[in-house]
Amino acid sequence: MKKIAVIGSGTMGNGIAHSFAQYGFDVALVDINSEALQRALQTIAVNLDKQVKKGTIDDQLKTDTLKRIITYTDLAEAVKDADLVIEAATENQDIKLELFKQLSSICKADTILASNTSSISITLIASVTKNPANVIGMHFMNPVPLMKLVEVIKGKETSAATTKIIMQLAKQLDKIPVEVNDAPGFVANRILMPMINEAIYTLHEGVSGVEEIDTVMKLGMAHLMGPLQLADFIGLDVCLAILNVLYTGFNNAKYAPCPLLVDMVTNKNLGMKTGSGFYKYTPGSKELVIADQFSKH
Ligand SMILES: NC(=O)c1ccc[n+]([C@@H]2O[C@H](COP(=O)([O-])OP(=O)(O)OC[C@H]3O[C@@H](n4cnc5c(N)ncnc54)[C@H](O)[C@@H]3O)[C@@H](O)[C@H]2O)c1
Repeated sequence: MKKIAVIGSGTMGNGIAHSFAQYGFDVALVDINSEALQRALQTIAVNLDKQVKKGTIDDQLKTDTLKRIITYTDLAEAVKDADLVIEAATENQDIKLELFKQLSSICKADTILASNTSSISITLIASVTKNPANVIGMHFMNPVPLMKLVEVIKGKETSAATTKIIMQLAKQLDKIPVEVNDAPGFVANRILMPMINEAIYTLHEGVSGVEEIDTVMKLGMAHLMGPLQLADFIGLDVCLAILNVLYTGFNNAKYAPCPLLVDMVTNKNLGMKTGSGFYKYTPGSKELVIADQFSKH
């Protein structure tokens, strides 16, 4: 494994590119949106600066990491000699199926095709490719450079060899991989998203306010972040997409997304990435301020 292509340069794509480049891999980062690529490079530089300040990397490694990342808007050009492609595009089944169909015809025959999907079936994604044995889920956590877990999802046809390579690769990035089988939401989001949805229902039904709900979960359950802040951090559009996969995948009303979540996504209040969700965000400020819609004052 030398050359890695990362598809999608949003919240997750920039972190995945950062981590691979930091550990010496050449990374082709591709997005259909050239502004997203520019933002990703800026984010990676800022995050590397934070690592330098903390003393976890030195200036030379920061420079080398940035040099190893090349950006592309042309998919075929980006993936042509990749040993591994990690797809981190928008959580939308049609987008992913179309991408994997294309990848299957433009990549080398032995390229491993991984998806960072939070919830969509790896078996389904693999079914549109020529070699489903080479398709796997490699689900990184946000923020990728800091979070240790990688959920490795085996589709029905994923080979043992592909799984072994991806498990080893995650360890090379100083991560801890956990192998799981394919089911809607896998393990992480099958458990996390119902909790986030329930927190949004609790707010929606007026049981308590944003700050109170997050404080209960932080202090009462020893969570680092309350569920509403976490939803903002993940992206409310991503949360909604995952809940819809759980809802339709299990055909069970307990996963139905809260109407407040649906409204917020419709109104483009997507959380941190749009500057407003349950909290409002000002660039450069670390202060946690409740969004006007939920403020009691
Ligand atoms: N946000 C999280 O906390 C989180 C955590 C783990 C996994 N994920 C998963 O990672 C994936 C990406 O999520 P995100 O939060 O980074 O989304 P995002 O909205 O921040 O970024 C998605 C990017 O994909 C690009 N894109 C869309 N279609 C494309 C295509 N056909 N080719 C190339 N680029 C394309 C968009 O332009 C955008 O820049 C999703 O599958 C999501 O479920 C997200």
